[in-house]
Amino acid sequence: MTVRVALAGGGAIGEIVARDIYPGLTTVALTAVVDPDLDRAVQVARHTGARAAGALVDVLDEIDAVDVRVPHHLHTEVALTAIEHGKHVLVEKPIATTVEDARRIVDAARAAGVVLAVAENYPHLQAVQDARALLGENAIGRPIAVRSTRAYQLDGVWRRDWREGTGPAGGILLDQGTHQVSLIRQLAGPVVAVSAVGSHETLSLTLQLASGITAQSLLTWQSPGTWDQTEATVFGETGRLDVVVDYEQHLGGCALWTPARSEHRGAENYYASHAAIVNDWAAAIEHHRDPLVDGTEGSADLAVVLAAADSLAADGAFVSL
Ligand SMILES: NC(=O)c1ccc[n+]([C@@H]2O[C@H](COP(=O)([O-])OP(=O)(O)OC[C@H]3O[C@@H](n4cnc5c(N)ncnc54)[C@H](O)[C@@H]3O)[C@@H](O)[C@H]2O)c1
Repeated sequence: MTVRVALAGGGAIGEIVARDIYPGLTTVALTAVVDPDLDRAVQVARHTGARAAGALVDVLDEIDAVDVRVPHHLHTEVALTAIEHGKHVLVEKPIATTVEDARRIVDAARAAGVVLAVAENYPHLQAVQDARALLGENAIGRPIAVRSTRAYQLDGVWRRDWREGTGPAGGILLDQGTHQVSLIRQLAGPVVAVSAVGSHETLSLTLQLASGITAQSLLTWQSPGTWDQTEATVFGETGRLDVVVDYEQHLGGCALWTPARSEHRGAENYYASHAAIVNDWAAAIEHHRDPLVDGTEGSADLAVVLAAADSLAADGAFVSL
């Protein structure tokens, strides 16, 4: 089975997935690139042989599914249009910009019987999966605390008015906080309360987890980034697990240390996870199963990020989920 996909959004990440990811996949065919900026649609479609169009409604007869790579505040509108026409949807993170909109997307997909996946990369990273496996083997004993850092410079194609603005779709919290919350939830489980202090470009989160332990996350896009732009550690009673996510080279991986044992696994580049995301979505469509990050999972990450935004506006007061 080949899933015929329209890419909605020929911007920065749309171009990366059209050029570097789709051509290497066998279960999906990128048949259309849709962008109201038709020049962008044409430029991105050129990488793939797909047809360029200015609106999703112009290509509905030619596709089974829509890969939504538009700015945050447009996720809901584009995803709902696709779902209402019976198309499977892969939507970029965050699933939406409000909990209510996320619920509308999830409910609409369920009612239409289509597969809804959210393009959250971290659960697809081998490093995260290896860390989860080691935690499952009790390799570091009972977790004591978790920390993560995402530090880089927002530059080049990533500088966009909608992303840098202080409106509900902008800021590092919605953009990168979603990834960090996803990572922490993957490593340490559900979040029950969150506090955020800082600005919309640099902030720190304190997360109280259902397990009773605390996680901290520092996010900034104001510091020059090297290859290891995300690191996270789970500190355990008998050792520690470190996860490194490499956005530039192929040095991402997972390291285990205890007084008795030390090992490193992986040689991973972050962007490879986009192939895993699309492949998983296509397999979910073919086998009528849930994707690894479904709408419920994406909504849970969004809820934490929005609670953090409320906390930021309340000078860091803890907000319960
Ligand atoms: N997971 C990742 O690794 C990753 C990386 C970067 C961006 N993203 C996400 O991808 C999304 C897009 O980010 P970007 O940096 O590419 O933004 P961008 O501004 O570079 O591109 C967005 C594109 O969407 C187009 N667009 C607007 N309305 C549209 C519509 N109704 N239909 C089709 N196209 C429309 C715009 O014209 C623009 O070309 C955001 O949700 C962002 O968070 C994810």
